[in-house]
Amino acid sequence: MDARAKAGVSIRSATKRYGSVVALDDVSLDIAPGEFVSLLGPSGSGKTTLLGILGGFVQPTSGAVWVGERDITYAPPHKRDIGIVFQNYALFPHMTVGENVAFPLRARHQPKAGWARKVSDALAMVELSGYESRGIGQLSGGQRQRVALARAMVFEPQLILMDEPLSALDKQLRETMQIELRRLHRKLEATIVYVTHDQREALTMSDRVAVLRNGRLIQIDTPERLYDRPCDAFVASFIGEATLLDVTRAGDDAVKLGSIVLRTAHPLPRGEKLLLAVQTEKLVIDGGHERPGVNRLVCCVTEVLYQGESLRVFATLADGTPISLRQPGSHDARQRIPEPGAEMTVLLDPQDTIVVPA
Ligand SMILES: Nc1ncnc2c1ncn2[C@@H]1O[C@H](COP(=O)(O)OP(=O)(O)OP(=O)(O)O)[C@@H](O)[C@H]1O
Ligand SMILES: [Mg+2]
Repeated sequence: MDARAKAGVSIRSATKRYGSVVALDDVSLDIAPGEFVSLLGPSGSGKTTLLGILGGFVQPTSGAVWVGERDITYAPPHKRDIGIVFQNYALFPHMTVGENVAFPLRARHQPKAGWARKVSDALAMVELSGYESRGIGQLSGGQRQRVALARAMVFEPQLILMDEPLSALDKQLRETMQIELRRLHRKLEATIVYVTHDQREALTMSDRVAVLRNGRLIQIDTPERLYDRPCDAFVASFIGEATLLDVTRAGDDAVKLGSIVLRTAHPLPRGEKLLLAVQTEKLVIDGGHERPGVNRLVCCVTEVLYQGESLRVFATLADGTPISLRQPGSHDARQRIPEPGAEMTVLLDPQDTIVVPA
């Protein structure tokens, strides 16, 4: 693909109503050329609706969509230069692999002489060279998924949309395909908008992640920023494994959790009543090293769950507030975990002390 094929996307105040249901509520979003952006959110949050507005399957009630220099808000799907991969592949079962991949070329009335070459290039891209004459029924789930990808890419679209393309695959294949898709994205340098409700998948794959809830865009940020600096309790609880604890303001850079004062390195949101969002792996069992300035929480271990690569430790603070932390599953780390019933001190770096509005 050449540089011309890359395009930025601009969604401007897009709203979609179905009667009294607001599927998408005033969403604005700019996507850079070549960027990989995921739309992440629970079921019904508006992800597919937003993708449909980009693809032309859904007419927004108001707002506009631009791809590159072009306002495509009212362009029909086939007049948009967009490749699409659906959740269930949507391959044509009666056609061969080659016919499936050639379909967009046919639909766009591209000269037939060029089809074979384009199809074999697209299949090579997804490492299915030579599969042209196979039937769809003779492929594994991962291979079908790759055929669907090849079909979305074959006409070198400016933009590729994917709606939960890996959700039908088992965990192992899904992880392989995630790496595969990242690789393809780098190679194609295409702009990709990717829908998922799997937060790990979104964090793994994306340059930026847009979190949706009830049709609203709550936060769009890099995976690191989203994880380290969630803007509210919803994002904090949706990403990772955060425990949310009621705290109150204690000056400009500290909050009070019961009688314990915890310092934060980040500006506090407004209000007196706040929430502390603690990701399980940001709590560290005190190893006895001098760590000035670090927050210390004394708690009592209630349960330790072995989970293979890591252990989940449940504990309660002096006032009974439950907290939990994750420790590596290594022998050394396991040695440090006290028995249930024992007291333990856990450390929380002020950089990791994230406070969100209540
Ligand atoms: N054609 C329609 N008619 C009426 N309501 C609709 C229609 N399509 C979507 N909705 C509603 O709009 C909201 C957003 O739906 P959407 O399909 O965008 O959610 P989603 O985030 O993709 O969810 P999921 O993860 O379950 O696929 C939901 O409340 C849904 O019921
Ligand atoms: Mg959906």
